[in-house]
Amino acid sequence: MNETLRTIHSLRTIHGDFSEREVSDADLTQILEASVRAANASGRQSYSIIVLDDRAKMKDLFSYQGSRALIYCVDFTRIMALARHLGHEFDNDHIIGFITGTMDTMLAAQTAVIAAKSLGIDSMVTNGLHRNSLDKVYEALKLPPTSCFPLATVVLGYPRQEPPYQKGRLDLDAVVHFGEYHRPTGAQLDRVVAQYDDVSRHIGLIPNWQEQGFRHYLDWFYTKWTGKPATDRVATGKVLEFQERLAKSGFWWPEA
Ligand SMILES: Cc1cc2nc3c(=O)[nH]c(=O)nc-3n(C[C@H](O)[C@H](O)[C@H](O)COP(=O)(O)O)c2cc1C
Repeated sequence: MNETLRTIHSLRTIHGDFSEREVSDADLTQILEASVRAANASGRQSYSIIVLDDRAKMKDLFSYQGSRALIYCVDFTRIMALARHLGHEFDNDHIIGFITGTMDTMLAAQTAVIAAKSLGIDSMVTNGLHRNSLDKVYEALKLPPTSCFPLATVVLGYPRQEPPYQKGRLDLDAVVHFGEYHRPTGAQLDRVVAQYDDVSRHIGLIPNWQEQGFRHYLDWFYTKWTGKPATDRVATGKVLEFQERLAKSGFWWPEA
């Protein structure tokens, strides 16, 4: 393995809080400069990154804290303001803009994760902001109400303690399709179930599902972790909050 692959293969999330040790400003700058090197559609870099160093604010907003937090927002505010500044008409506030913006944003976020690791700095990607009230998040970060959506947070820091193991991943043949899409057969599904069940691989979220009386890890996952499917397909709770927020931000156009 070369050094880049070694860095990528050594990635692991630090769950919970990081130690008090701070990431230096010089390292932060390097991480940010690497992050924006990620590919982006049409040279728009359709994101903004909000850097937090206030640990109490981090806790309040997304329940975790580290030395710094990089909040990656899909954001067309800048490119739209530039258009107006130069007397052009332009907007990207629709679902296609949102999806391409999401690609730019997450590529930049994961690039920050890899750059940080190469500097010996650990991270956690979290969607903790989404568990908070989105109105509160917009207010606390002064986010533009339109053309901007906070997507993911990369918390940076040094671990308080080393994770006991590195989380595993499914075999490549479970996720890679050559030539065209192949729906999984029953035998292939059984193999995936077995991969989740293999505790030595640490693919699932918890190790002690057997002690809790479950036959398979996924039996725990579908009954204890995930919510019941909405049979009537009527948006309520968080789904409704997201739909309303995306409509407010202009990315989702309610049907005429
Ligand atoms: C979109 C997203 C949201 C996540 N949110 C959380 C979170 O809120 N809390 C947490 O501890 N880990 C979170 N994670 C980290 C995952 O739990 C972690 O990547 C996964 O368990 C695999 O472990 P690894 O990154 O150590 O390989 C999140 C990861 C992603 C990509």
